[in-house]
Amino acid sequence: MRPDPGPADNGRVSHSTLIIDCDPGVDDGVALLLAFASPALDILGVTTVAGNVAAALTARNARIIRQIAGRDEVPVFAGCQRPMIRVPVEAGHFHGESGLGDMALPDVSDEPGPHAVDFLVATLQDHPPGTVDIVVTGPFTNLAMAMVMEPAIIGRIRRIVVMGGARLEGGNITASAEYNIFADPHAAHVVFASGAPVIVHGLDSTHQVRATENRIAAIEALGNPRAAAAASLLRFSRKIEHEIVRGLDAPLHDPCPIAWLIAPELFETAPCQITVETASPLTLGHTAVEFRDAQDSPHRWVTTANGQGVFDLITERLA
Ligand code: BDR
Ligand code: CA
Repeated sequence: MRPDPGPADNGRVSHSTLIIDCDPGVDDGVALLLAFASPALDILGVTTVAGNVAAALTARNARIIRQIAGRDEVPVFAGCQRPMIRVPVEAGHFHGESGLGDMALPDVSDEPGPHAVDFLVATLQDHPPGTVDIVVTGPFTNLAMAMVMEPAIIGRIRRIVVMGGARLEGGNITASAEYNIFADPHAAHVVFASGAPVIVHGLDSTHQVRATENRIAAIEALGNPRAAAAASLLRFSRKIEHEIVRGLDAPLHDPCPIAWLIAPELFETAPCQITVETASPLTLGHTAVEFRDAQDSPHRWVTTANGQGVFDLITERLA
């Protein structure tokens, strides 16, 4: 059931008709829980892709999160099983074997249906120009394949809001590459070169949104199944980050594009040009972000994020 719009949305007015393309993934899971609980978002469908874990698992995980959120009317479409050109690279060590950390997983049934790329093409063709937002929180394979299959869909897109890329912070999978871009740099190139507006939440801003114990506890204290699932995913992420990275609290990447759609005032952005390195093995997936001569560019780089504001939004929505 769609969440009831009204006072519960605290008067936030940003409205978006959107498709969420993701690879759940613990932080994708929190992003979906936030989106499913937000009346301002009219979710046409969720598409999944191979990324953090294999394609069959990301589709299943999206259906699990949808069930927990009580949003079974939103269709989920399984998508590409490998990147366009490069060899697949998964990130299960950050997301657990299942992709959803150590959460107890309910059974969900398979859902045969059109391929995610077919759904993207058909749905965008069905909508007027400039009306549909696409959020991408995994490798960009599905969207790039849809653009290659039917370039006319590009004009139907209002905004593409992605989690991907790194500039000042450096990479999280190599010295200069962020995972979603590294996992399919050729797809990212197709999307950035498409001419569609792309708002880019890279590591520079997502590292400003950290899952501290207090923030997780505030969500957990809500005491409902959505909040319990989000708290479990966040706590797993925090544990892994402390173990294998630098003892810092886990950054909350994928909810940022969703939060930007609902509450853009929590973020600052700057126009830029972005190109993706696809040739050199050492810098494969590096995002070159250039702020000079960028006024006419369709790309915007998110420079700052209000970490407490993002967590307050998640807490308020999951209540
Ligand atoms: C991104 O990589 C994935 O592991 C996360 O889900 C997020 O989308 C962060 O680099
Ligand atoms: Ca992801």
